[in-house]
Amino acid sequence: MKKKPTLRSQHSYGKHDKDGFIHRSWMKSQGIPDHAFDGRPVIGICNTWSELTPCNAHLRDLAQHVKNGIWEAGGLPVEFPVMSLGETQMRPTAMLFRNLLAMEVEESIRGNPIDGVVLLGGCDKTTPAQVMGACSVGLPFLVVSSGPMLNGKFRGRDIGSGTDVWKFSEAVRAGEMSVKDFMSAERCMSRSHGTCMTMGTASTVACVIESMGLSLPYNGTIPAVDAHRKALSHESGRCIVDMVLNERTPEVVLSRQSFENAIITNAAIGGSTNVVLHLLAIAGRIGLPLKLEDFDAIGKNVPLLVDLMPSGRFLMEDLHYAGGLPAVLQQLKDTLHLDAMTVTGQPLRTYIEGAGHFDEEVIRLRSNPVKEQAGIAVLKGNLCPQGAIIKPSAATPTLLKHRGRAVVFESIEECRERMDDPSLEVDKDSILVLKGCGPKGYPGMPEVGNMPLPPKLLEAGIKDMVRLSDARMSGTAFGTVVLHIAPESAMGGPLAFVQEGDWIELDVEGRTLHLDVSDEELTRRKASWQPPEAHMERGYYWLYHQHVLQADQGADMDFLVGKSGHVVTRESH
Ligand code: FES
Repeated sequence: MKKKPTLRSQHSYGKHDKDGFIHRSWMKSQGIPDHAFDGRPVIGICNTWSELTPCNAHLRDLAQHVKNGIWEAGGLPVEFPVMSLGETQMRPTAMLFRNLLAMEVEESIRGNPIDGVVLLGGCDKTTPAQVMGACSVGLPFLVVSSGPMLNGKFRGRDIGSGTDVWKFSEAVRAGEMSVKDFMSAERCMSRSHGTCMTMGTASTVACVIESMGLSLPYNGTIPAVDAHRKALSHESGRCIVDMVLNERTPEVVLSRQSFENAIITNAAIGGSTNVVLHLLAIAGRIGLPLKLEDFDAIGKNVPLLVDLMPSGRFLMEDLHYAGGLPAVLQQLKDTLHLDAMTVTGQPLRTYIEGAGHFDEEVIRLRSNPVKEQAGIAVLKGNLCPQGAIIKPSAATPTLLKHRGRAVVFESIEECRERMDDPSLEVDKDSILVLKGCGPKGYPGMPEVGNMPLPPKLLEAGIKDMVRLSDARMSGTAFGTVVLHIAPESAMGGPLAFVQEGDWIELDVEGRTLHLDVSDEELTRRKASWQPPEAHMERGYYWLYHQHVLQADQGADMDFLVGKSGHVVTRESH
């Protein structure tokens, strides 16, 4: 029989001295019985519950089910809150605070007498931040996600979070939808607890996490309000105790193969471009070499198998009923690393064995994909020396090779101001260029890369144009949108020097983005360029601005890359 590991919680709860008294006595004020301090694993439940993050508002309920599983398996559950990042509420953008949450998660785990952690979260930035922080500590952890909302229903048809907001809003601007109808769609879109039910960033992250073996199977797709999610939470509670007793740390579970599986999965589900940033940052925390170029090289020949919005027709509820992520992984089994480890102690292969596949419209067969090639294309060129990305599956095929004149906006505010101006000199072949929206620029790299189109072109029936920026794009959005240009304009990247009327060439097949301006002229423009004033004199904004890395490095902070480990040598005083 395997020897029981020495638990770090015993440093606090296992001593019969003054320190042990203090650690136990105050915990007992909550009614925890004496026998719960008998040397059993203490499991933290790291909860991003908040009413300001509506997609996490049911997490205290799920936490109770996790606790039930932990008790049942012989552990002691302790729930603790961490900062919550509501994607639809936080200014200037939730992404600004991803690294702050990651830092809080890391120190909350390190500073407390816990042996393993369940990461309970679910909005776009909460799960990546929790995983980043937990990876830097290195204790066993697994993820329980919020789960997606029920499908939106509006006037007899399904509508998707985010995706249909963009469509309705363009319809209002084109005069095709009344403001009254627009507003009546609000309640119809968000019908239950849970995360956005399109294949936006939250759904993508949950599915990708599952493909990495960091959660139990079906965690990515079970609807938030389905009783199966409560049962999965209970099972996850049992699993984390087993992980602690068997010392299944992130080093055991995560490998280069897990990240390659994540990239393949992201391509096949038509996942969000934001995942690129998050996976790069997570890999950085565990010291695993992952490069921007890997997303292209590994994902390039993966077919798009899931027909979900924003790229396709269906929603997360449909995906779950069609067989969930295991059915998707089953279709990909010849390309995945099926021996990659999971939180269960079994290889990924066990997640797909016997997986049912019930709808070949929602989850396509390999022989009948939505698109032959999905994945994220990584562009290089004199406009993005450190790279830029585009999601071809969400773009207009005819625009993937395009030459046009730049219409330049120095900020998102200027973009909003000028875009609706009838005198704006723009036509369908123009390329919309947005500056000042990178990690340092906004600050926080907002999701504004899918700029709205000029009303006069919308009215003429134009639905897409080439747009490029150093910003991000919501996972629920779509269009021929080049994102994450690095270095960003606020750092003096070449994007900063693009001027109105410059010719730009996009060639996604050739993986290039070229500004048709001579090197001499660019040098001349650079010499007269002034960096924008940052106005970030204090607090977290200052820290972030000083230390955030560029998009091609995952936009983590330079001093957070790598691990601290779980050992804190000094006693609590
Ligand atoms: Fe939280 Fe979309 S707003 S998942």
